[in-house]
Amino acid sequence: MKKFTGVQDIGDLKVALALAFEMKKDRFKYVELGRNKTLLMVFFNSSLRTRLSTQKAAMNLGMNVIVLDINQGAWKLETERGVIMDGDKSEHILEAIPVMGSYCDIIGVRSFAQFEDRDYDYNETILNQFIQYSGKPVFSMEAATCHPLQAFADLITIEEYKTKPRPKVVMSWAPHPRALPQAVPNSFAEWMNAADYDFVITHPHGYELDPKFVGDAHVEYDQMKAFEGADFVYGKNWAAYAGDNYGRIICSDRSWTIGDRQMAVTNNAHFMHCLPVRRNMIVTDDVIEGPQSLVIPEAANREISATVVLKKLLDSIE
Ligand code: CP
Repeated sequence: MKKFTGVQDIGDLKVALALAFEMKKDRFKYVELGRNKTLLMVFFNSSLRTRLSTQKAAMNLGMNVIVLDINQGAWKLETERGVIMDGDKSEHILEAIPVMGSYCDIIGVRSFAQFEDRDYDYNETILNQFIQYSGKPVFSMEAATCHPLQAFADLITIEEYKTKPRPKVVMSWAPHPRALPQAVPNSFAEWMNAADYDFVITHPHGYELDPKFVGDAHVEYDQMKAFEGADFVYGKNWAAYAGDNYGRIICSDRSWTIGDRQMAVTNNAHFMHCLPVRRNMIVTDDVIEGPQSLVIPEAANREISATVVLKKLLDSIE
């Protein structure tokens, strides 16, 4: 595997899951694989889980790790070609990327959607520049449109807790005070479709996701109807994707906040969320603290998904 940006890169899902459970039993089984290899993690945006879990995964594999926070101590980067650089940006990303590549063996990149231009975001301009110009295997630590390390961890978690081969999994939009990217819901949809679960997406009108990610999922605009008989409920906010509303908040309806009322019609569903989560906007205290909440084991599985991905990238290095 030379890059990891989505479910298409991981290969056979059953094989990837088997490797994940093998890793979970013995996290240091491949500790020699990364000896004298260096991971560079480049953050254009904040992180708690991705930063810690990916660093831990690299340590499981015996790698050295360098972390670069672009907005804290690095030169301010210009990302557009053709710009006359007479402003506050001192370095162009097209020099910075190959320089970064010269100091490491694998690069992880976190770069969120900017919500200024949907095509710019959905072309994954920054992540693809790293893939094109670094000369090194690159993986997404959440890019503009996808968060595959999260979705892989979500899948591992559902496989651990499911009690039937094809559980009903419902991803529900919920309100949030800030406009959030579609990366997590896009990837969750992509991976749930690949896993062939009974997958339902529920959101208010106007919050339709890119059809490329929705695939064959059932879209249900009535949240209560969507939750009926669910085995897993995945709460998440995202800003509008469609047309002129791209990147905007078009609904703040707190009746979508996931609480006991919605969970009561499920099949005693597990609650999931990628975190960080705004309590009593996305989900009530009672639900997130309840016995069916999986948010902590789900976050813990980020170490496992990252270990699998880094192992597969290390395997590809000569
Ligand atoms: N879920 C997730 O990616 O968390 P962080 O933003 O803290 O890395």
